[in-house]
Amino acid sequence: MKTLIIGTGNVGKALARKFQENNHQIKIYNASGQLPDGYTKNHFATNFQEAISETKLIVLAVPFEAVQSIFNKISIEPETIIVDATNPIASDMKSMSIGNTCSGAEKINEWIPNAHIVKAFNTTGWENMKNSNYPNGKLTMFYAGNDKKSKQIVASIIDSFGFQPYDAGDLFMARFIEAMAMVWIYQARINDSNPNFGFSILER
Ligand SMILES: NC(=O)c1ccc[n+]([C@@H]2O[C@H](COP(=O)([O-])OP(=O)(O)OC[C@H]3O[C@@H](n4cnc5c(N)ncnc54)[C@H](OP(=O)(O)O)[C@@H]3O)[C@@H](O)[C@H]2O)c1
Repeated sequence: MKTLIIGTGNVGKALARKFQENNHQIKIYNASGQLPDGYTKNHFATNFQEAISETKLIVLAVPFEAVQSIFNKISIEPETIIVDATNPIASDMKSMSIGNTCSGAEKINEWIPNAHIVKAFNTTGWENMKNSNYPNGKLTMFYAGNDKKSKQIVASIIDSFGFQPYDAGDLFMARFIEAMAMVWIYQARINDSNPNFGFSILER
């Protein structure tokens, strides 16, 4: 599937590699126009509108504050799937700039009403995206979205990346998936500096 990854930082690079390993045709795009290590110009989108018009799936791996400006002057094809991996974290890293009665993903849906938005890849660190292997089971990847078919497509991508997909529900559930991310972020980035853990759902 033709995929555009916006953001080539920690998350963008980890996910881009997984998309490539799973034979997706990828383009990457960033703010600086600097080609990240390990990528050729073939993968790099310089004309953003052109890259968007060719793509069926866009991954957002940028700071949440950058998203609105990215889509301000750009039109996307109807039914393009947007995988939103962003977290609307406030600068104090202890609160969220949006939450409880709305979510970053729902804001994005306000800005791009014709897109099929799936919140995913926000509840764990880039280290786990790069390597999702754990000895005692699969990590769970929670997702939520506004279109059933798009959620199925993203669930199969999540599965192919080595996670157990978990359908958390409609897009409004992104409010709680984004809040959940704060538990991982606090432990991994602030409290303990150990990113080698993740959420996993047990069923019976
Ligand atoms: N870090 C994690 O483990 C993790 C896990 C889950 C979710 N998230 C979320 O994922 C997002 C990205 O996190 P990250 O750690 O990958 O951040 P990062 O390493 O700082 O990378 C951010 C990327 O966004 C690009 N960018 C910024 N503004 C842009 C714009 N206007 N247009 C195009 N590209 C733009 C930057 O471009 P340049 O390279 O050119 O500067 C950079 O490549 C954040 O919302 C974060 O909350 C992070």
